[in-house]
Amino acid sequence: MMCCANGAEQQVKQGMSEDGWRLAFSRPGFVTAKHDGVVDLPSGVFIRTASHSIGHLHNADGETQIAGLIDLLTANFPLGLRFDELHVWPRDRLPIGKFDFEPGIDEVSRLVAENIYQSLSVQWLACDAPNRIAEPESRVLDVVVVDPADWFVGWHTSRQWPSRWPGGVQPIQPQYEPISRAYFKAAESITWSGFEMMPGQTAVEIGSAPGGACGRLLELGLKVIGIDPAEMDPRIVQHPRFKHIKARAGDLPRREYRGAKWLLADSNVKPEKTLTTIDNIVNHRDCSLSGLLLTMKLGDYKAAHAIPHWIERIQRWNPQDIQVRQLARNRCEVCFAVKL
Ligand SMILES: C[S@@+](CC[C@H](N)C(=O)[O-])C[C@H]1O[C@@H](n2cnc3c(N)ncnc32)[C@H](O)[C@@H]1O
Repeated sequence: MMCCANGAEQQVKQGMSEDGWRLAFSRPGFVTAKHDGVVDLPSGVFIRTASHSIGHLHNADGETQIAGLIDLLTANFPLGLRFDELHVWPRDRLPIGKFDFEPGIDEVSRLVAENIYQSLSVQWLACDAPNRIAEPESRVLDVVVVDPADWFVGWHTSRQWPSRWPGGVQPIQPQYEPISRAYFKAAESITWSGFEMMPGQTAVEIGSAPGGACGRLLELGLKVIGIDPAEMDPRIVQHPRFKHIKARAGDLPRREYRGAKWLLADSNVKPEKTLTTIDNIVNHRDCSLSGLLLTMKLGDYKAAHAIPHWIERIQRWNPQDIQVRQLARNRCEVCFAVKL
């Protein structure tokens, strides 16, 4: 069973049948598939979470649901088993941003998680609370609250960062009120990419206004240059480690990027234009960049067919590594993490 952004289901399903998967039940934000062989869980740009499914519980009464969950576990693991973590989360009920919807644990799944934890902790769980960040190689019991009375149960072993976060959404407590939701997007992209951003290093952001992402970079102790023709929030402008260049990225002399180690791009322009701008920066002899985090706006999920073409263009920069993912905080867009 897989979770994705509401609207991205087709992208999740594409190509799965070629790998021997038969599509089964799905809802917006939630896809299941069956396979006859012993295979790894599916992965891909648009798959936020993937779990081995063990059953489905559909009952309006919470106590009956939990009794059913215990029956499922007993039937699937007759010798007993202690899961390291319990993750309980809802599918995305709406596309991100619609009516201000944001992915992650809501009130219903928080309550469901508490109730399940109380009933299962002694026999089935080794954790001290539900929805903790899992250590790598932990065995995680997953409950997706597809609807309040419709729970899908499965498990996975945590490995990369998103598989350690409940529902693949990074739990984060900002030090200060974020200036925009891009704060969360930047935080997620930095952690997911594995880029080791250190205090004192310089990061440049193209498309920096009003300053959510810059807020995160400043919080991490970096020196930050924001490039945007629009106004930055005064709280960012006044920061001693921040410099605003009020311009369009393509119009800037390349020396402005000298000494920068990290480059983020989140401007609302076509991905092809973002790549052309960055082509010029990366191919300059003075380029000192180690990593790029590029938000590529799709506008429509059908535009995802261009992702392999964008990867081809980026390959010409001779990167060490390219990762692509629709982050949990990405709207209809994907994030490229390029290690140079
Ligand atoms: C989604 S907003 C960025 C949000 C921002 N990253 C934050 O953390 O709050 C997109 C921004 O891209 C800027 N933009 C559009 N074209 C640009 C260009 N050619 N160069 C720099 N910024 C650009 C817009 O002015 C707008 O402020």
